[in-house]
Amino acid sequence: MMWRRAAISEIIKKALTEEKRVSTKTSAADLVTETDHLVEDLIISELRKKFPSHRFIAEESTAAGEKCVLTDSPTWIIDPIDGTCNFVHRFPTVAVSIGFAVNRELEFGVIYHCTEERLYTGRRGQGAFCNQQRLRVSRETDLSKALVLTEIGPKRDPDTLKLFFSNMERLLHAKAHGVRVIGSSTLALCLLASGAADAYYQFGLHCWDLAAATVIIREAGGIVIDTSGGPLDLMSCRVVAAGTREMAMLIAQAIQTINYGRDDEK
Ligand code: IPD
Repeated sequence: MMWRRAAISEIIKKALTEEKRVSTKTSAADLVTETDHLVEDLIISELRKKFPSHRFIAEESTAAGEKCVLTDSPTWIIDPIDGTCNFVHRFPTVAVSIGFAVNRELEFGVIYHCTEERLYTGRRGQGAFCNQQRLRVSRETDLSKALVLTEIGPKRDPDTLKLFFSNMERLLHAKAHGVRVIGSSTLALCLLASGAADAYYQFGLHCWDLAAATVIIREAGGIVIDTSGGPLDLMSCRVVAAGTREMAMLIAQAIQTINYGRDDEK
């Protein structure tokens, strides 16, 4: 798969600097380009040749109307370009994310930061790495010492924005050192796995944003849970992740829910 990673990364890096045909999906801020489609088709066709019986959940196929249902069958969960809005604006924080689940259990995840050539990998029970370097999460438990990451999500209606800003305000009132938005859920989650931030929360991300990153964070020693504080539901479009359970629970208790529905009910 090595040359294919290089080929896909070259396609994305070249397209990053060129004019793009941009369309919108669920909102004016939910963007897609021809490169998202091209990369998704390439990944699926390569994997399908090797694993003809496996199933696929992928961002652009789902947007085109395919059902997004996780079954017990071996399933690849793919985001061809995470950070499409960044990509459209030539902001070089974009990644390819591929997770793999069997019996609804996440087995491994691969996230490739295209412009920085960083390959994040995690395999259940076998650790998480970035370009062969072992990843370890932060051990911080105190919210007033935390750097927190989030993403805005695609909705921009006044109620959603109010809740989004109010959540940030709550964390800043709790004296978090900072709240950052980088425009790519998967890369923000990789930063958490690397120990470069203490927590992450978001409403409105999808299973393809979360699948690979969840394995990587867990294998780096971190926690990935639902925003209610309960177990993660990959299809629920919401997440809290942190280096420690204490930190994850503090974030879950501080934030209010923004309802995005479920991936498997769209
Ligand atoms: C999106 C990005 C964005 C986040 C959205 C994601 P996409 O993925 O990660 O930062 O706010 O929730 O769906 O559309 O660029 O693949």
